[in-house]
Order: sequence, then C-alpha cells, then structure tokens
Amino acid sequence: MGTVAADELPMGLSADKSLIEHHLDRYLTFTAGCPPRLQEAMRYSVLGPGKRLRPLLVLLANRACGGVFEHALPAACAVELIHCYSLIHDDLPAMDDDDLRRGRPTCHRQFDEATAILAGDALIPLAFEIICRDSPTVEIAARCCHQLAVAAGATQLVGGQVDDLAAQFAEIDLQKLEQIHLRKTAAMIAVSLGLGAITASANESQQTALENFGKNLGLAFQIADDLLDLRGDEDKMGKRARKDQVLGKLTYPTALGIEDSIRLANLLVEEALQMLVGFGPTAEPLQAIARYVVSRTK
Ligand code: IPE
Ligand code: IPE
Ligand code: MG
Ligand code: MG
Ligand code: MG
Repeated sequence: MGTVAADELPMGLSADKSLIEHHLDRYLTFTAGCPPRLQEAMRYSVLGPGKRLRPLLVLLANRACGGVFEHALPAACAVELIHCYSLIHDDLPAMDDDDLRRGRPTCHRQFDEATAILAGDALIPLAFEIICRDSPTVEIAARCCHQLAVAAGATQLVGGQVDDLAAQFAEIDLQKLEQIHLRKTAAMIAVSLGLGAITASANESQQTALENFGKNLGLAFQIADDLLDLRGDEDKMGKRARKDQVLGKLTYPTALGIEDSIRLANLLVEEALQMLVGFGPTAEPLQAIARYVVSRTK
C-alpha cells in the first residue's frame, strides 16, 4: 500500500482502478445492434472520471477473503454500471436537475433527456448480463444477481431516491434521514462488499462482517457527500456544490450541524474498522479506503 494524502484514493489502488476501467470500456463496446448515440451516451457517462469506489470495494472484499481476483471483476463492473445509471437519473431535471457530473456536462445536457433516460435504462440489464455471463460459476452468478437486484431495487436504492425527493423541504427527522441515506447510498456500498465476499466463496461470518462494514461506510460516505455539497470545491468535485440547500434536501449538516456531522462520519468509520478485525493484513486496503471516505475532497 503506497502512502498518499488522506484525501486521495490510496495509491496502491491505481492499478486496480485502471483494470476496472479497461473492463468497463470493453463491456461498453457493442459490435452490432446498439444505436451509436445510445452507445456514445453510455460510454460518456460510465467512462468519465469517477472514483470507482464501489468496484474497488468489490475487488478488495474479494481479496480480504482470499478470493481469485478475476472472479470479482464481472461483479465489480456490474456495480459500477448500476451506480452510473443512478447518477444519470439522479441528475435529470425531474430529480436533482444538475448540469455537471464528473467534471463534464451531465448526460442529459450533453445529449438530451430521452437519451439520458435510455442510457441509464440500458446500463441496468447490462450489469446483470455481465454477472450472468462472466461469473466463475452459475451459483455465484445467481447469488450476485440476487444481492445486487435487492440493493438497486424498490426497497433500497430506488426507494431511497424516492424518499429523498419526497423529503425535500420536509421537517428534519433524523431517523428518516438515516433511512434515506442507508437506502439511496449505503445499500450499493454494502452490496459491493457483499459481492466481493460471494465471488471469493467467503463464509457467512466474513460476508456479514464485510456487509456491516459497508453499511457503516456507506452512511459515512453520504454524510461526507452532504458536507462536500456545503463546503467542497466544485472544480475538485466535478459536480455542483451548494445545491442541497436550494433543493431543500434533508442532509446531515442541516440536521446536526457541520461539527456533529463530521464527528458522526468519523465514528461510523471507526465502527466500520472494528468489523475488519478478524481479517488480518489482507483487509488493510479496505481500512485505507474507509479512512479516505471521510477525508476525501471529491
Ligand atoms: C456520488 O457517488 C453519488 C453518491 C452516492 C453520493 P460518487 O461520489 O462515488 O461518484 P463518482 O462515481 O466518483 O462520480
Ligand atoms: C445521490 O445522492 C444518491 C444516488 C443514488 C445517486 P446525491 O443526489 O446527493 O448525489 P450527488 O451529490 O448528486 O452526487
Ligand atoms: Mg439526489
Ligand atoms: Mg444529486
Ligand atoms: Mg450530494
């Protein structure tokens, strides 16, 4: 593990990140049948400069459980594709109405709304196609598809997004806020860890520990996102800042204030780290990522 400033992704992960991006590029190259503009929009959104946090978590959870790296790659790419669809749709005028993502115009600004909706739509089945076709065994494929479908579905990611929109300008209710953040963001982060464990054929206790690590980390990640919206640098983040207040979003800094939000995010990460105790040195990259999640500047 290389040493780097705590606001950057740990340097030892850049090779993993490049590998993920290489495979995403490959998976988004259609030889026939895909309308060129749709392919262009999908590639534009997915291959833009994202942090690749979720696919890295898949690979690192697999490594922490002693798995075969290549076995985790399809699930890692699938998680990133679902994440990218959720960003395209999150930015639409009917949702957060954003014009900047990953340092470039949002998909609907670069193309048009219908293309953005459809590019997002097409990423969802592609994710499941990749897992089904490229996972090492049919059983691993089925378990990964099941877990990912639950995390991306009506009770978790989509349900959380629905409640996030419904809560705009609502009165602060901490329990509701926690439920929104756990579902719209932490579920996809927790499932990334879970898929890494599944692809390594980890035992149940390892899988549960990693998923709980991911749940805490995911909540801390969205608190950090809320704090960045308030205090971050647009150029660095590659997306608009100071929008949550305009949209009347329920966020941790509005509910708790800045200092207590920072404290809570750090506490969640400390709790998350406790869940890695049984893993030993193979989980060190996960520890580094956990620290990065609350100190990041983009
Ligand atoms: C942004 O996710 C959406 C949230 C859940 C806060 P990321 O901050 O991981 O975005 P990218 O993938 O790096 O662009
Ligand atoms: C996004 O939360 C959660 C998603 C499921 C995409 P935000 O709406 O705060 O994410 P950003 O700030 O636009 O990236
Ligand atoms: Mg949103
Ligand atoms: Mg948004
Ligand atoms: Mg945000």
